[in-house]
Amino acid sequence: MTYVVKDECIKCKHTDCVEVCPVDCFYEGVNTLVINPEECIDCGVCEPECPVDAIVADTDPAVAKNELDYWIHVNTEYSKKWPNITKKKDALPEHEEFHPDKFPDGKKDLFDENPGDGD
Ligand code: SF4
Ligand code: F3S
Repeated sequence: MTYVVKDECIKCKHTDCVEVCPVDCFYEGVNTLVINPEECIDCGVCEPECPVDAIVADTDPAVAKNELDYWIHVNTEYSKKWPNITKKKDALPEHEEFHPDKFPDGKKDLFDENPGDGD
């Protein structure tokens, strides 16, 4: 089991999550974060920290199995490529415009595969 970051994070990147992770397993892309599933110890403390509910357990019954599989894959692959982030920074300036409530079909298509700055 692991926790994963889903598309709600894209173009928001509030980063409240990174401060609480006891094993520093968040990695930063240009417009979203991911969790390294091999490093995550499933403590669950990051989940309630995200103001846009982007973090879910990979066993969450409220999320479709194919959707979970997709995001587990994204988190696994990009956590190998992106820099580590452990300190909170400002949310992206466009975060209000890209609040998940405004995207009933999700924001998957807005994912940017380029690395962020990290700490
Ligand atoms: Fe880190 Fe715990 Fe969240 Fe896993 S569940 S990413 S270990 S805070
Ligand atoms: Fe993203 Fe939420 Fe963390 S928006 S950066 S998963 S606090």
